[in-house]
Amino acid sequence: MNAPHPQPLTLLDRFDQKVFDAIYSRSLVYNTCWEDPAVDRKALELGADDTLLVITSAGCNVLDYALLGPKRIHAVDANPRQTALLELKLAAIRRLDYEDFFAFFGRGYHEASAQLYHDVLRAELSPFAREWWDERHRWFSSPHGSFYFHGLAGIVARGFRTYLKLRPALAAAVRELLAAPDVATQRRIYDRSIAGEFWKRSVNWVLSRQITMSLLGVPHPQRRLVQEQHPGGVAAFVRDAIEYVFRELSVRDNYFWRVYVTGHYTRDCCPEYLKRDNFHALKMGLADRIVPHTCTISEFLEDSDEAISRFVLLDHMDWMSSYYPAALIEEWNLLLRRAAPGARFLFRSAHARPGFLDWIRVGAQRRPLREVLHFHDELAARLQREDRVHTYAGFLIADVRP
Ligand SMILES: C[S@@+](CC[C@H](N)C(=O)[O-])C[C@H]1O[C@@H](n2cnc3c(N)ncnc32)[C@H](O)[C@@H]1O
Repeated sequence: MNAPHPQPLTLLDRFDQKVFDAIYSRSLVYNTCWEDPAVDRKALELGADDTLLVITSAGCNVLDYALLGPKRIHAVDANPRQTALLELKLAAIRRLDYEDFFAFFGRGYHEASAQLYHDVLRAELSPFAREWWDERHRWFSSPHGSFYFHGLAGIVARGFRTYLKLRPALAAAVRELLAAPDVATQRRIYDRSIAGEFWKRSVNWVLSRQITMSLLGVPHPQRRLVQEQHPGGVAAFVRDAIEYVFRELSVRDNYFWRVYVTGHYTRDCCPEYLKRDNFHALKMGLADRIVPHTCTISEFLEDSDEAISRFVLLDHMDWMSSYYPAALIEEWNLLLRRAAPGARFLFRSAHARPGFLDWIRVGAQRRPLREVLHFHDELAARLQREDRVHTYAGFLIADVRP
């Protein structure tokens, strides 16, 4: 089976693509990682000798994996603004105390953010990151706002907050659900006060707009993958994900949905890097094992000859598989060339069984990817049931066969 020819784009697809490229090429897309590192930790089985290649996104998960003490983490992202966010977090870990750090990245607001940025953090940043944050450190300075209402994903969160302001009864039910002591209570509140009130035609309409998905970093081919799999389309897919998260999993530690509903984390419900002891472990040296890079995965692998034992590639292959199938094949050949014996790959997809795994050929013998990699489908399915984000149909764990 050969790489599919890039799908002929309709006029609307071209327009959606132009909008996506325009907003993506000048924005911070992810102000927080939207993939569950607690699940990744169980899948990665990290050790002190491991060297990781991880796509940075907002850097939260890179910091999470660093807490497990691997040898090195190469944090790579093609979007320099994502790298700039990781750089700011690393500078803050090195130079701020815990209370100031939690104000910035836990609360999303620090009353002295401008002064701390100029006097303490700015000097630690690369020229690009400095230029970027010189214009945007104010994202941390609004007492009624939050850093988590900025960036593209933040715009959607701000829109949701405004919607809840217009629906006080629904807002009260959402607050009640986030404070629920157990899953049974959550389920009761969701069924009684949220499901019927929230899933209105207007909400379904907004969710099925490409612009909403573009703001959430989902380009139209990835949206199409969801539509192909789910009879009710994107809105119904999102509804199923939200219903699973709030009716089947505890919200007490679900910081992913909480930050987008409230605009901030709490000390009990936040990413691991924001917990006091973990912050100090990072400050005492674990954060120094992280090396940020702004380039594509392929560019990084071409320039490096280091053997990588763990790869965390998020859902970026969905982006490439329809736009740049040849580049994705090239990337897999480079990934396998740099993979240490027995290396493990983690990635996600909007498709439960991503088609590109069947047409990618690697190596001089052009062997099918599924011949070169052993997929742990049962482990992946079991861990996916624990996933607190739950918006990816596909979660894949694969080892290089001996
Ligand atoms: C698809 S998004 C994943 C975001 C992730 N789901 C999250 O919520 O945290 C991909 C991220 O990978 C980056 N990216 C996409 N293609 C890339 C490539 N070929 N090399 C490096 N980074 C890439 C994007 O800039 C973005 O930050």
